[in-house]
Amino acid sequence: MITLALAKGRIYEETLPLLQAAGIGPAGDADPRSLIVPTARADLRLILVRAADVPTYVQYGAADLGIAGRDLLAEHGGQGLYQPLDLGIARCRMVVAVPDAFDYAGAVKQGARLRVATKYIRTAREHFAAKGMHVDLIRLYGSMELAPLVGLADAIVDLVDTGNTLRANGLRAVEDILPVASRLIVNPASMKLKRETIAPLIEAFRQAAHGS
Ligand code: ATP
Ligand code: PRP
Repeated sequence: MITLALAKGRIYEETLPLLQAAGIGPAGDADPRSLIVPTARADLRLILVRAADVPTYVQYGAADLGIAGRDLLAEHGGQGLYQPLDLGIARCRMVVAVPDAFDYAGAVKQGARLRVATKYIRTAREHFAAKGMHVDLIRLYGSMELAPLVGLADAIVDLVDTGNTLRANGLRAVEDILPVASRLIVNPASMKLKRETIAPLIEAFRQAAHGS
């Protein structure tokens, strides 16, 4: 049995056409509440987990493969994961954003110590350390855009796609940190032991994602 870990929501929806194209779409009669979903292939099942947990399931071999955003892979660290393929889905950018009226360039120039709210603590720490900036990081789990509006933080590190969420909250992006898309990830032991099944699957995803 091959197990593929996916997150519900955006990743699941954007992956569905790729699964169908690769011949491993979910079986139609699955119970919608079940977290283990059979597919069109008897030897392959899907498991549905939180987006941030996908790399962990694959790292420990509880799933052979997974699909995870580059944002969450950066945050996880990527240890124990083989990343053979960028799927080009769920594209966005990780950025630093501040209120429209905040002089970010001035604050950086003066060496001000900023408070930054984010759920991407590790990636944010590395970004600001590389710039030689001292920041106090505040861990949040969502709705980061709110933090500067209520005085919790000077800036946020979050994902941006259309920019609508930033605009609606009077914020603007001031720095790019990482271009993000979702990647196929594979447990290295599974890759060795189940290569005969997994290698063609990677190829099927490659063709579905890039049409070649
Ligand atoms: P959870 O719902 O478990 O809290 P989440 O909010 O991170 O997780 P999603 O919003 O579905 O889950 O995001 C999953 C992934 O999709 C992210 O890790 C990122 O790679 C990508 N993503 C997030 N927001 C966007 C967006 N606005 N546009 C495109 N891709 C996005
Ligand atoms: C993501 C992200 C931003 C928003 C950006 O949130 O955290 O808030 O999308 O997209 P935009 O630039 O197109 O507005 P999401 O909609 O996934 O909600 P969440 O915070 O609950 O994950």
